[in-house]
Amino acid sequence: MKKPPSYETQDLREFAEVLSGRRTIELFLHTPVPEDLVSQAIEAATWAPNHHVTEPWHFYPFGRRTINACVDLVRQIVTEKKNDPRAGEHKAKGWSEKPGWLLVTCRKSDDEVLQQEDYAACCAATQNLMLYLWKAGVGSKWTTGDITRDPRFYEIVGVDPAREFVVGLIWYGYPKLTPTQSRKPPGDVLTRLP
Ligand SMILES: Cc1cc2nc3c(=O)[nH]c(=O)nc-3n(C[C@H](O)[C@H](O)[C@H](O)COP(=O)(O)O)c2cc1C
Repeated sequence: MKKPPSYETQDLREFAEVLSGRRTIELFLHTPVPEDLVSQAIEAATWAPNHHVTEPWHFYPFGRRTINACVDLVRQIVTEKKNDPRAGEHKAKGWSEKPGWLLVTCRKSDDEVLQQEDYAACCAATQNLMLYLWKAGVGSKWTTGDITRDPRFYEIVGVDPAREFVVGLIWYGYPKLTPTQSRKPPGDVLTRLP
C-alpha cells in the first residue's frame, strides 16, 4: 500500500499559522491594497465548497463614491439611533478611515434547504477571501452591523433585496494593530464517537 504523505511538514505548520493567526482588524494603515490582489482573493473565494455548485455569491468592491455614501448613511443611522449627532460623527469618522470596502451577497431562494446551503457556501467563500488576503499581509473585518440590513444601504449599492441578501461587508487593509484572541482547546469542542 502507498505510504500517505507526511503531515509533519513546514508547509503544513505555516498553513496552520495562516488559519490561526488571522485576526479581525479594526485599525488599518492608509497604504492602499492593490486591486489585483483583491481580484485574486475573490477568485480564491469562489473555490469554496458549494452544494450543487450554485455559485450563489456576488462581490462588490466599493469605489470612493459608494464609500462616501455609506459613511454618510452610518452617520445618519447612528445619529437617529442614539439621538446624538456627535455619536453619528464619531462613527462616520471611524468608518471613513477604513481603506478597502467589499460587499459579499448571497442569492435568495424560496427553497429553505438550498438557501441555508447557499449561505453556508457564501460564508466559506468569505473566509477563503479573508485568509487569502491575510496570507498576503492584508487584514480584514467581516461586519454585519445595522447598515447591512438598512434598505437605504441596498439602494446605495444597487442590490435588489428581493434577489440578494448581505453575507457581510468586509473592510480590508494593511493592519495597524493586530489584536490577540483565544479559542477553547479542541478537547473542549469535540466528542469522539465510537
Ligand atoms: C458572520 C459574521 C459577522 C460578524 N459581524 C461583526 C460585526 O458586525 N461587528 C464586529 O465587531 N465583528 C463582527 N464579526 C467579527 C467577529 O467579531 C470576530 O470574528 C470575532 O471577534 C473573533 O475574532 P477573530 O476574527 O480575530 O478570530 C463578524 C464575524 C462573522 C463571521
